[in-house]
Amino acid sequence: MAQVEIKNLTKIYDGGVCAVKSASFEVADKEFVVLVGPSGCGKSTLLRMIAGLESISKGDLLIDGTRVNELPSKDRDIAMVFQNYALYPHLTVYENMAFSLKLRNYPSNEIKTRVDEAANILGLSEYLLRKPRALSGGQRQRVALGRAIVRRPKVFLFDEPLSNLDAKMRVQTRVELIKLHRQLQATMIYVTHDQVEAMTMADKIVVVKGGEIQQIAPPLELYKKPINKFVAGFIGSPSMNFINCQSTKENKKILLKTNSFLIELLGEKFSSLNLNPSSQELVLGIRPEDISIANGTNKNVFLANVEIIEQMGNEVFVQLLIDTSEITARLPADANLKIGEKSQFTFNPEKCHFFDPISEKALL
Ligand SMILES: Nc1ncnc2c1ncn2[C@@H]1O[C@H](COP(=O)(O)OP(=O)(O)OP(=O)(O)O)[C@@H](O)[C@H]1O
Ligand SMILES: [Mg+2]
Repeated sequence: MAQVEIKNLTKIYDGGVCAVKSASFEVADKEFVVLVGPSGCGKSTLLRMIAGLESISKGDLLIDGTRVNELPSKDRDIAMVFQNYALYPHLTVYENMAFSLKLRNYPSNEIKTRVDEAANILGLSEYLLRKPRALSGGQRQRVALGRAIVRRPKVFLFDEPLSNLDAKMRVQTRVELIKLHRQLQATMIYVTHDQVEAMTMADKIVVVKGGEIQQIAPPLELYKKPINKFVAGFIGSPSMNFINCQSTKENKKILLKTNSFLIELLGEKFSSLNLNPSSQELVLGIRPEDISIANGTNKNVFLANVEIIEQMGNEVFVQLLIDTSEITARLPADANLKIGEKSQFTFNPEKCHFFDPISEKALL
């Protein structure tokens, strides 16, 4: 049982930098929570406050219902895995994994049991006598995970543990971590700036920007119902396209006019569209995967110039120029398009997102 509650946690560094502003969220027992956001948004600071490596300026941190703000790091029963895993180069894999247990005076048979078990889980059993320099990057990262696992902590904290690995190894290790979480049934908090890692690993994602939490939701909910333009643009790859529009209401219809096309929003869903009464401006959000090539019978068609085609093998990412706005479409690999030529494209208004241009909040 290990549940973490973060209540209005604030961090003001010496010099006045407010790195985390009144952050609140809960991590349930056995939950995998990912903190995601751009560089400098305060992710590491938040994690380090939970670990006890950084003092808490304001707010409360509770583990299993007990306030631990002042509890020293070593007594919090938390293990943290960093980006720079810094193994001891002169110690073997076994000794590296056993190190923290030795320090805590565990009996050697207990140490052996735990190291063997962790090595088994991580596929490191045959490397136990090697020194770190004789391992690949991915294997070294697994030793760093092993060091955390042998402690059997209440909570695991990860700070971008995969960012030193190459792209292929990162995907492999990501899958291993997902399996590990299932196997250990442990509470985990994981920091990354990579939204793909967040989407694939998390039970629940906490999106952070400028020290402030923007939205807390399961991956699919974040993708489908982003609360504001920042979350909408941050989650999903390639990013959501944003187009400025003028809106007008006509009986049951809403018309959105851009510089180069007109969209009709009809139906129940749009009746609750919370248009700003003082301005008719609106930001329309369309995900690249929701754009397709028009077939002649579609409504909501726009003409765009094909600027760049990025071939992915299974699909293409196409940069389109509509008037002066650039947007990206994600289309089938065999899409019959030519660079420099104009084509007609379409999208389903049901899949669109709408944002207030000033507050940037989602309007639907
Ligand atoms: N010891 C410190 N003293 C003063 N300011 C700091 C200190 N450590 C971090 N900061 C500032 O606090 C903010 C948040 O930093 P933090 O390291 O938590 O960001 P991050 O989200 O982990 O970024 P990254 O993705 O680059 O690791 C940044 O503006 C950073 O410059
Ligand atoms: Mg960081």
